[in-house]
Amino acid sequence: MEALISRIKRDGTVLGDDILKVDSFLTHQVDPKLMRQIGKMFAQKFADSGITKVVTIEASGNVPAAYVAEELNIPMIFAKKAKNVTMNDELLTAEVYSFTKKITSTVQISRKFLSENDKVLIIDDFLANGQAALGLINILKEAGAQIAGVGIVIEKSFQTGRALVEETGIPVVSLARIAGFEQGQVVFAEADL
Ligand code: G4P
Repeated sequence: MEALISRIKRDGTVLGDDILKVDSFLTHQVDPKLMRQIGKMFAQKFADSGITKVVTIEASGNVPAAYVAEELNIPMIFAKKAKNVTMNDELLTAEVYSFTKKITSTVQISRKFLSENDKVLIIDDFLANGQAALGLINILKEAGAQIAGVGIVIEKSFQTGRALVEETGIPVVSLARIAGFEQGQVVFAEADL
């Protein structure tokens, strides 16, 4: 997606060997116009797939996921990382290990929002080691839902996530793919859209 790649080139910052900071338009401050374009790209790609729900994981997955869901005119569900007092329904849970934060968290979705009649599109802002996506896949399988694909805004193709998701048989569609970082610059691989 050209507009996204240009924006990463303009405003992204490389931190260390493997982190891309995009907090001016995606992960902290948000550019709604770019998000709308992202929503439209995924919605076009999956328009004929019979998707009934978009599923993501909080926090920054919520932003692109909401725009995709709006374009598809379907609900968006975000898996929660902490249980709050209102979550008194039956929960579907998965353990997600974060290599970045070095912690395991339990993510959860109320069972009442998912059923075997659902066909889900998973959306996330980053695909790195794939643990968040795999956790969501486990929850969706437990619910008996079908999974049409995993849509990613920025994939770090030099990490293991894409291969791990594809091993499950679920297609990955990424709007920007990063092959690596060289001297503080992003080297892009060919994107899926
Ligand atoms: P994984 O989910 O693919 O396994 O990734 P990993 O454990 O390595 O990453 C954990 C968190 O760090 C995720 O956010 C992920 O989106 C984010 N992340 C990974 N690589 C990058 C990067 O290069 N740049 C930025 N900005 N973020 C990255 P999270 O902790 O689940 O949630 P949140 O920050 O959305 O609350």
